[in-house]
Amino acid sequence: MSLYEGLLAVHILAVVLWVGGAAMLLILFTKLSKINDGPTIGKLGNIAGELGEKYFMPLSIVVLASGVWMVLDSGRGFERLWIVFGLLGIVATIVIGAGFLGPGGKKLDALVSEKGPGTPEVLAQQEKMMTLSRLDLAILILIVLNMAIKPGA
Ligand code: HEM
Repeated sequence: MSLYEGLLAVHILAVVLWVGGAAMLLILFTKLSKINDGPTIGKLGNIAGELGEKYFMPLSIVVLASGVWMVLDSGRGFERLWIVFGLLGIVATIVIGAGFLGPGGKKLDALVSEKGPGTPEVLAQQEKMMTLSRLDLAILILIVLNMAIKPGA
């Protein structure tokens, strides 16, 4: 196996764990909010906040580092459209994840404990988290498509 093939395998594995994890969290939040299980939503918000630091952030660093290394190893250059889209996308999703989803999940749990499940403040925070999670997942899926199709390759 060449260095490039090894990096590609690591890149794709980290992408699978990242995108799969984000999709599963969104599915769980959606199911719990449909059955109105406020306390569990609060706990899941807290777990999601923790996962942001301990699971999603390390994976995003692996994806970024392996991607940049492959570009350097192949001598392609960073100005290609699909690589620019990849870089912009990963920055956007790291900002959404670390800046809003992580702290937002912990805030949701704190609000549930303080105000009680199903209160207007809690529901507003829940809705905000779900909208941001959908946006984050949509960006991730667009980057996967971008990487597979490689526009302007
Ligand atoms: C969330 C961000 C990212 C996702 C979801 C993602 C996803 C993928 C996927 C699914 C592939 C396999 C497609 C294929 O080989 O045909 C791939 C390949 C690749 N990605 Fe990424 N990627 C991301 C970020 C990046 C970044 C930031 C860079 C570079 C700066 C990058 C560089 C590459 C390269 C060089 C390949 C190999 C393409 C090839 O050998 O044909 N990726 N990526």
